[in-house]
Amino acid sequence: MAAENQVHAAAAAVPPAHGPAADGMTRRQLLRSTMFATIGAMFGLAGAGAGGMLWPIKLTGFGGIVPAPVKAHEMEIGDVVMVREGKYYLTRSEDGLMALYWKCVHLGCTVPWNAAQKKFMCPCHASVYEITGQNIAGPAPRPLDMMEVIVEPDGTVLVNTGKITERPRHEPEHAVKI
Ligand code: FES
Repeated sequence: MAAENQVHAAAAAVPPAHGPAADGMTRRQLLRSTMFATIGAMFGLAGAGAGGMLWPIKLTGFGGIVPAPVKAHEMEIGDVVMVREGKYYLTRSEDGLMALYWKCVHLGCTVPWNAAQKKFMCPCHASVYEITGQNIAGPAPRPLDMMEVIVEPDGTVLVNTGKITERPRHEPEHAVKI
């Protein structure tokens, strides 16, 4: 009789397959809730990932927007300002304002501005470039690459160091008129 009572007690502790669980939910309801919660979480993560790809990442330093330390109207023809953070030279020629990537297009040396010669002169293999970046001597196969320049209404110069353009030769329209 005692053994029979134990069997009944054990059977009562296990909820029936289709009956109510301890909190009033059936197992099927519990499983369904868990499944929907899991699917919802997966969609949430996927959405967050897609949002991250669509939302622009604000970059600073080289690869992002690097403001020039001078206003556009402060640059006179012949001026060259080196901006280390952005690896560029801001130059003003007769054509206008340009941001030139300082990397030599021959083999990648950093090209210094020679103020006395008024030219960019690469120390590695003697390539020479004009203030517009046009190559005029040495093994460089094309002008210095240029970066996108944005001049704001107050004269602030923003340079997009993530947007570098190669060109076969310098054209006046490559410069921003100011
Ligand atoms: S790397 Fe500049 S000339 Fe060769």
